[in-house]
Amino acid sequence: MALHIEGSAQVLLKSGVFLNPAQVFNRDMSVLVTSVYAQRLKTKLETQGRPFQGLNILEPMAASGIRSIRYYKEINQPIQRLIANDLSPEAVEEIKQNFESNNVMGEVTQADACEIMYRNKGVWDIVDLDPYGSVASFIDAGVQAVKSGGLLCVTSTDVSTLCGNNPDTCFYKYQSIPTKAKHCHEFALRVLLYQLNASANKYQLVVKPLLSLSVDFYVRVFVQVISSALEAKKSIAKSALVFQCTQCPAYYLHYLGREGRNKYTTNVFEGHSVCPECGGKFLIQGPIYAGNLHEKDFVDEVIQTLEERNMKTHDKLKGVLVCVKDELDIPLNWDLSMLCKFFKSQVMSQKQFRSAVRSSGLNISQSHTHPMKYKINVEVSQLFDIFRHWKKTIASDRYISNLPEDSAAVRVLNKEPKTPCPDFEQELTEHEQSVLSSIRFPPNEANWGPKPRAKRQADTNIDESKKKKQEIEDDTEE
Ligand SMILES: C[S@@+](CC[C@H](N)C(=O)[O-])C[C@H]1O[C@@H](n2cnc3c(N)ncnc32)[C@H](O)[C@@H]1O
Ligand SMILES: [Zn+2]
Repeated sequence: MALHIEGSAQVLLKSGVFLNPAQVFNRDMSVLVTSVYAQRLKTKLETQGRPFQGLNILEPMAASGIRSIRYYKEINQPIQRLIANDLSPEAVEEIKQNFESNNVMGEVTQADACEIMYRNKGVWDIVDLDPYGSVASFIDAGVQAVKSGGLLCVTSTDVSTLCGNNPDTCFYKYQSIPTKAKHCHEFALRVLLYQLNASANKYQLVVKPLLSLSVDFYVRVFVQVISSALEAKKSIAKSALVFQCTQCPAYYLHYLGREGRNKYTTNVFEGHSVCPECGGKFLIQGPIYAGNLHEKDFVDEVIQTLEERNMKTHDKLKGVLVCVKDELDIPLNWDLSMLCKFFKSQVMSQKQFRSAVRSSGLNISQSHTHPMKYKINVEVSQLFDIFRHWKKTIASDRYISNLPEDSAAVRVLNKEPKTPCPDFEQELTEHEQSVLSSIRFPPNEANWGPKPRAKRQADTNIDESKKKKQEIEDDTEE
């Protein structure tokens, strides 16, 4: 038995109950986000002249209860009702002991997560879903469990599936086809958000992302669930298919709908049947959620709150949040290393790439998912023009001679650029310098990583057929 101290919680760890120390970052971030959310809720109610009676929080899969304890003690707002639930009797016993030793006045229940959410629909200010592996089977209950305007926090660790390794599994779980392209991590977030929103839509609810993160081995989104038939109708215009070229990095978004005169309506397909850059065939991917991943004012408030707290993972939190705040609200991103590799070009530095993009009159930001991934408001042809010019200017003798004649890269480079040669030598702007000087991608601690699910007595209670099904489906990375 070991004592684990994290934030204001102290829990005794017994074997058989799950606690992954690598998730301290996840729990720290969750405490910050829920604190900002709670403060906003309190202010909103008070400005409406309504009393704030405290938060109602449900954690349907609580394991040791550490997350609930931290919510209870660290959100800094009164808690009206807190339930920590788990299916496993060992976990429930441990939560009870940990609640008692941490002076937490919460209820502890043993039930299936969906059952407890369906039993208490529309009553929670905050629901936090943190399963082993995929969250897919908890989404329908989750979106209905929170109040209108409530906060749904969702972790899913089936990143391998969401990042395109098993499109068949991804489709039956999320009704969306994932990608293996370099922007797969952001794509994974958008597949999850698509499914969250689609599930909510059935009940005339929508999800509004406040913060969406792809971190390490999991995805984590914080969404507000809002009841509005009008907003639900807008979902068609926030959903898009992605056409990914099979031979070059080009991809194109096709929005499923748009705002019409009186209502939202469908789109005609104005795309190409083959890639206009290289003639390659397209893979059809998605649908994805193509709306904004974050609410920037909310992210600002989270950063402010971080500076008022003493969080163990402060540097990583700050780094990720600064990067998120700076992200352009544009779906998906481009990987600079992959583009240089595709064109077999001398590696372009971040400074040169940013200079070329900016001098072409475009905007650029990093993606929080990776230091080499960039969001740019660019047409594919103009992005490829930058590389056409780059190869001609920097290594004109090897413009296409270092590539196989029949390659897609040669077909792309053989097209004349339609835009003027950008400037590759501009200095970084002051804003870029300030963003880039913060520690945005700090290294993880030793022994960091996903942990296997806890083995315990309760597992023998799960019926054998369920277990078998789980084995077949599970590419889980917890
Ligand atoms: C990843 S752990 C939760 C970790 C916890 N939220 C934390 O922050 O430390 C997943 C937990 O979900 C529980 N669980 C799995 N399936 C469940 C279900 N259908 N209903 C309720 N609990 C479930 C497991 O017993 C396990 O304790
Ligand atoms: Zn192509």
